[in-house]
Amino acid sequence: MPMNILMVCLGNICRSPLAEGILRTKLTTDFYIDSAGTGGWHVGQSPDVRSIETARNYNIDISHLKARKFSVSDFDTFDHIFVMDQSNYKDVLQLAPDGIAKSKVSLILGPSKEVPDPYYGGQDGFEKVYHLLNQACEEIAKKLKVIP
Ligand code: 4NP
Repeated sequence: MPMNILMVCLGNICRSPLAEGILRTKLTTDFYIDSAGTGGWHVGQSPDVRSIETARNYNIDISHLKARKFSVSDFDTFDHIFVMDQSNYKDVLQLAPDGIAKSKVSLILGPSKEVPDPYYGGQDGFEKVYHLLNQACEEIAKKLKVIP
């Protein structure tokens, strides 16, 4: 069954747009995939050039994406909300109106594991993030494609 999946990080310009682009290559187009940030500083901006470049190196185009802020209505729109780190997890859970909303949120690498924020580092950090997200998205796609 196709689902709506949201990737969330802090700024929605480095990690979550990359996660969005990667997951899109692994699922059919009837899955609706989006990303958002818990912070609003970069709303309306394209992904960081280092994320765009990293994605491009793996034949994924994320250059058209635009940052937006996570909204409480996303709990209604999406079936699964994947966050990158503990800080995102705390911020998103704080906005959850009920237990159903809370149950949709999970750390993308699994409990107590984090996708490190590459914003203040170099291109190598983005490459590392790509590999972490590629592995995670492979597993997410495998699970979602299984017919119960
Ligand atoms: P992201 O990275 O959460 O992966 O998009 C960041 C982008 C911007 C900032 C922090 C992290 N910032 O502080 O502006």
